[in-house]
Amino acid sequence: MPPTNSSLFRRKSIAAILANPPADADGHGGAPGGLARHLTVRDLTGLGIAAIIGAGIFSTIGQASLNGGPAVSLLFVFTAIACAFSALCYAQFAATIPVSGSAYTYAYTSFGELAAWIIGWALIMEYAVGNIVVAISWSDYFTGLLDGIGMHIPRWLTMGTQSAYAGYEAVMTLMQSGKPLAAATPAQLDAYYAWAQAPELPGGFRLVVDLPAFLITVAITALVYVGIKESKNASNFLVALKLAVVAIVIAVGVFYVKPANWHPFAPNGIGGVLKGVSAVFFAYIGFDAISTTAEECKNPQRDLPKAMMYALIICTVLYVIITLVLTGMVSYKELGVGDPLSFVFAKVGLPKFSGLVAVSAVFAMASVLLVFQLGQPRIWLTMSRDGLLPPVFAKVHPRFHTPSFSTIITGIFVGVPALFLNMDLVVDLTSIGTLFAFALVCGGILILDPYGKSDARFTVPYINGRWLVPLLLVGAGWLLWRYDHDTIMKLIEDVNGRTAARSGEGYYSVFRHQIPYLVFILASLAIMVVTFQKKLSLLPVLGLLTNLYLMTQLGINNWTMFLIWLLIGLAIYFGYGYKHSKLNKPVGVPA
Ligand code: ALA
Repeated sequence: MPPTNSSLFRRKSIAAILANPPADADGHGGAPGGLARHLTVRDLTGLGIAAIIGAGIFSTIGQASLNGGPAVSLLFVFTAIACAFSALCYAQFAATIPVSGSAYTYAYTSFGELAAWIIGWALIMEYAVGNIVVAISWSDYFTGLLDGIGMHIPRWLTMGTQSAYAGYEAVMTLMQSGKPLAAATPAQLDAYYAWAQAPELPGGFRLVVDLPAFLITVAITALVYVGIKESKNASNFLVALKLAVVAIVIAVGVFYVKPANWHPFAPNGIGGVLKGVSAVFFAYIGFDAISTTAEECKNPQRDLPKAMMYALIICTVLYVIITLVLTGMVSYKELGVGDPLSFVFAKVGLPKFSGLVAVSAVFAMASVLLVFQLGQPRIWLTMSRDGLLPPVFAKVHPRFHTPSFSTIITGIFVGVPALFLNMDLVVDLTSIGTLFAFALVCGGILILDPYGKSDARFTVPYINGRWLVPLLLVGAGWLLWRYDHDTIMKLIEDVNGRTAARSGEGYYSVFRHQIPYLVFILASLAIMVVTFQKKLSLLPVLGLLTNLYLMTQLGINNWTMFLIWLLIGLAIYFGYGYKHSKLNKPVGVPA
């Protein structure tokens, strides 16, 4: 019997993928030219914006501004640059392998099967876990809206169990320290009442659930199930609506800006600004989703790279201005709410306008839910067709032509946690998973085409990184030292164990928070040495480094959860995918 291709690094060949493109999520395709190629640069840019502008700018920006102040606007610029490096790499892959499957397919051709599985698994964090965030944030706006028109849903049906309990605890601690209830923030009070008024379950537990978040997920899943697609026109309409809301918020808000609110610009230093990393990064997630439409583009090689860049540039400009407007209209200290864009208008005495923003936000966020709720089953479908997931994940509904099983599982996976979880936690998990996927995509280009020599219609421009990478790393180190001296001193102290000794905490429990950062320093030195030796292409290297750096800012607890998530994924791969993979064939037999 001939030996089988048992390597964990077995790769799909680009030629084989191109000769036999996978079917789309609706079960169409599967043959060259099977899908209608009707998307132009304008449509693609629109789709990008449809997927990008959502909970990030409508919601999580509030908490980020509370921590970092107006300087969060600079974090939007920095994060956009990091995303641009990744977008270039995505674009080259999309030009080389213009089929759906996105980063998962790219990894299959560059790193091999194990990495492809890991990336597919991490993408669940981007799409499905990301949608939990969007559903929760949608619920915040929706309940705010209902309150505005005098329809009050009981508080215990409007937020996750975790958030309500945390708020209740915070208020109890406040009161035990002798402060009045009024000293709590509005968000804490909301959570306190939700918990206190909720029906008690056996065992002292309270029934507090985010029902609107669950119901919107069910509704969108039902739409996706019966085959509503993000048609060109619907998507263009929703994009126009989103851009209009954002433009109006800026145009009206700017008249209420008090420059005094911009002082201090970074009230909590760089540390405070960096606390917003996952929220800010979350706001950009989605530009990569357009790479999944490669089979439906008129000219993917030419148009996808352009569209990703246009979408990123437009969103960056809007995000920076919005942050400045919000933090200029009210003090950053008041922005720790779930619906900051409508909140600021209520705050400056424009309640009707605040309502208008909330209505538009409800539609705008539903469109992000729709795009991601379509994207997740598409990735599972591709993985299942490759044999890495059971065949049922590729089951296509006979009448609706949609991946029925994958769609329902996605609905459950998003809707049920949305009932209970706290938004911050899911934002962090989404960001860490997506950054990881982006880092692998940049690494993939370094493996596939380290010198920009590919003859794809788009390649990441080659700039020799030999001297520039060390120079930039030294420069970044100096900047951090200069402007974030406290954090670095703390790091050094932690490493020396002095902080631990002083505070009486265990050495390890203090030190562990710095582990991701220390690993990053070592990894970046190694990347620098390899870049120097091999004269690697500058832009993918910078993409890799910036994504890894942003990951280090997400805290050890998120890393721990992320690693547990990866371990579960590996267990499934070795328990199922490795054996059932289509590539697990005798050597020489095509998959
Ligand atoms: N960027 C998308 C949003 O903010 C995920 O909702």
